[in-house]
Amino acid sequence: MSDFPAARLHVVTGKGGTGKTTVAAALALALAAGGKQVLLMEVEGRQGLAQLFDRPPLPYQETKVAVAQGGGDVHALAVDTEQALLDYLHMFYKLSPTGLPARALRKIGAIDFATTIAPGIKDVLLTGKIKEVTTRAGRRGGRYYDAVVVDAPPTGRITRFLNITHEVGNLAKVGPLKAQSDGVMAVFKSVQTVVHLVTLLEEMPVQETVEAIEELSREGFPVGGVIVNMVRSPFLTPEDLAAVEAGAVGDRLTKGLTAVGVDTALAPALLSEAGEFAARAALEERGRDALAHLERPTYELPLLPDAVDLGGLYELASALKAQGLA
Ligand SMILES: Nc1ncnc2c1ncn2[C@@H]1O[C@H](COP(=O)(O)OP(=O)(O)O)[C@@H](O)[C@H]1O
Ligand SMILES: [Mg+2]
Repeated sequence: MSDFPAARLHVVTGKGGTGKTTVAAALALALAAGGKQVLLMEVEGRQGLAQLFDRPPLPYQETKVAVAQGGGDVHALAVDTEQALLDYLHMFYKLSPTGLPARALRKIGAIDFATTIAPGIKDVLLTGKIKEVTTRAGRRGGRYYDAVVVDAPPTGRITRFLNITHEVGNLAKVGPLKAQSDGVMAVFKSVQTVVHLVTLLEEMPVQETVEAIEELSREGFPVGGVIVNMVRSPFLTPEDLAAVEAGAVGDRLTKGLTAVGVDTALAPALLSEAGEFAARAALEERGRDALAHLERPTYELPLLPDAVDLGGLYELASALKAQGLA
């Protein structure tokens, strides 16, 4: 049973480089396991998902990229802002996305113009698309996708991103923009949405996680879990770590090296390495403490030995499932 049984829209944020894209993909696989249909969406147009699933750049079209354990499919979509703007004009002003007016708009650079003059419009389009795929009706009743996972903007921008239609909607009191804004906010602030935070056990990402959770909560967005990524397995017991920090292992080390016939000249280098390891372990422990204060469901993913490939993604997906995130 998932820790978020009502959630269908999973927004994954985190400080850049913490593994947002990787975790979003693993979560999509975990949610698809056992026969579900899941859409994994990339909104920053970097084609990170295509790379991860070892595919050519994704078209602006939902494309099946992986089969999950026990059946179930992960479809991926990299949103193209220009196409999204044309879709939008089509939806609200009945402008054909392939017809002459759209082509003309593109030709005269109207799309660049619109997105440059009003940078917010891009996020309006992206959030509108997220709402559309989340609420899209299925052919046999119910929803088209059982779940949608978004590889979202980083922690520093996530609240503003989710709130954009609200800001823009405030400017428009009536009309399609206002209706669109109300619709998007109704989904984002409902129980079907959860915003998950990916972090590392390092000072900056932990700090950003704490701040983002505060901000999201203040604005009324439902916060989901905290996913601690790239966790190293502990090589030393807490007792050994304490001994290293106290500088009390020198004798034991020399004796140990002699016992196994290794040159004791190595001892200083090994000691210094153990010292660095202990210092990092202490920092990690502080990170864990700070995260524990948040009192959010927390999940840990191991640091995989190699670059994350499809096999690695399945491994991370099972870890998330086993811990109850999916
Ligand atoms: N659990 C992990 N173990 C090993 N490498 C990881 C793990 N998670 C992410 N990575 C690697 O870290 C790098 C950054 O991950 P990515 O998902 O692209 O981060 P982000 O989207 O936050 O920028 C990538 O090279 C990825 O393969
Ligand atoms: Mg990324």
